[in-house]
Amino acid sequence: MSDRAPLPRLAVLCSGRGSNLAAILAAIDAGTLDAEIAGVFSDKPECGALHLVPAALRWSAKPHDFADRGDFDQTMGDAIAAARPDWIACAGYMRILDTAFVERFRGRVLNIHPSLLPRHRGLDTHRRALEAGDHEHGASVHFVIPELDAGAVIAQVMVPVQPGETPESLAHRVQAREHRLYPEVLRWAVAGRLHERDATAVLDGHTLFTPRRLEFAE
Ligand code: GRF
Repeated sequence: MSDRAPLPRLAVLCSGRGSNLAAILAAIDAGTLDAEIAGVFSDKPECGALHLVPAALRWSAKPHDFADRGDFDQTMGDAIAAARPDWIACAGYMRILDTAFVERFRGRVLNIHPSLLPRHRGLDTHRRALEAGDHEHGASVHFVIPELDAGAVIAQVMVPVQPGETPESLAHRVQAREHRLYPEVLRWAVAGRLHERDATAVLDGHTLFTPRRLEFAE
């Protein structure tokens, strides 16, 4: 019998191509994120993200086949619970999670959002940042609460807006930073350094009154 402690388990929720999931998998492979994937869960059975992991780790269903949002989230939540994750990482999961789901896993669900929260909650953040004339934009990792993109922000990465920028060029540069930011925050999470307490993020026992701003070399 191995005397190694079991690795912390990550459930990842995706709806899209899964570049953030790929970054998480790469960090696990590189030995810089000491965790294992408990499962990848999706509301889009055809999405690319699912194919980044072996079939045994995939779960997906179409919301359309369920009576309502609560029914879908209960079923997905049961599948997630059966996979026994320590943390749940939303990585491009494009469906709002209902309150019962969030309360069920409260304090263990993280999300990555492509803006410097609290600016630009919701969709279409890159276009909205440009229209607002923002000089800086970026990405945030936060705890998930029932209100959309409103949970305690843990860490952010800033991307300066350049002259002639388009939503696409900005998205490209922000996503490259997301792929560094999310594995870093998950590293803190699986090491037991991160908690949600009284709706604020706590890192190494210190309340984060402002999010950690991370910088990564190009
Ligand atoms: C990311 O930009 C993430 O911030 C947003 O959706 C996108 C997902 O991309 N929530 P991917 O599926 O990880 O490539």
